[in-house]
Amino acid sequence: MEELIQKVVELIRQAKRVVVFTGAGVSTESGIPDFRSPGGVWQKYNPEDFYYQKFISSEESREKYWQMSREFYEPLKNALPNAGHKAVVELEKMGKLDCVITQNIDDLHQRAGNSPERVIELHGTAISVSCLACRKKYPREEIQSWLLRGVRVPQCDVCGGILKPDTVSFGQSMPPRETEESFHRARNCDLFIVIGSSLVVQPAASIPLEARNSGAKLVIINRDPTYHDSYADVVIHGSAGEIMSKILERLQVT
Ligand code: APR
Repeated sequence: MEELIQKVVELIRQAKRVVVFTGAGVSTESGIPDFRSPGGVWQKYNPEDFYYQKFISSEESREKYWQMSREFYEPLKNALPNAGHKAVVELEKMGKLDCVITQNIDDLHQRAGNSPERVIELHGTAISVSCLACRKKYPREEIQSWLLRGVRVPQCDVCGGILKPDTVSFGQSMPPRETEESFHRARNCDLFIVIGSSLVVQPAASIPLEARNSGAKLVIINRDPTYHDSYADVVIHGSAGEIMSKILERLQVT
């Protein structure tokens, strides 16, 4: 492990524009479950029930969705950035970070201290809710208070339209600006570091390959093997917080 960490330290030292790409694995040490590990969200809930088309077409699906959302909002709301997030902030402070492309919806990179303009949220955010008809926006906290008061399917208090968190659901189109910008940054960086993603969901999982195919070095830091380990210049399997802390400690020492 130590020699792999040293290799990543050298790659960051040589790099001018580092793109960090994160998945749910960077937030599990903050108490937010990931999706595909044992005990993850998709072990407890069937992803089939959370397709966008289902959500907009049936009140019953919306009720099931909001039940899950209410349950997972609590750990998300109380989560604090962990050592993995803080290490990415240090990369920005060192002037090495071009941007963070995140699949996460927990706002933890921003709460850790990364500049919001350097955080690209590919799958949206869970901290706000919008009306699908009139686009009125609500803080997620406000909707949580409705849910805890017993509202089962929140509706817009202006037009009665369907309310949905500003996250991207399966079957929902990806945000065009964030998606295009992510591929553009991947093509123009010289080092691309994946932290805490199984790299199975498209189109996000193609972004690290875009970087590699454009000449960037690719580093994957993940507890379990990922689909794209074979494309990486360095793969380190283990805890995101622990590994990223060691990398930043070494970078800051010399
Ligand atoms: N340190 C390092 N890696 C970790 C840690 C940790 N503390 N905890 C979990 N992991 C790894 C797991 O081994 C797993 O491979 O993080 C990865 C998380 O993978 P997923 O649960 O599939 O999450 P992610 O890759 O972000 O999923 C992508 O799928 O359901 C959709 O929209 C959702 O954004 C999500 C997308």
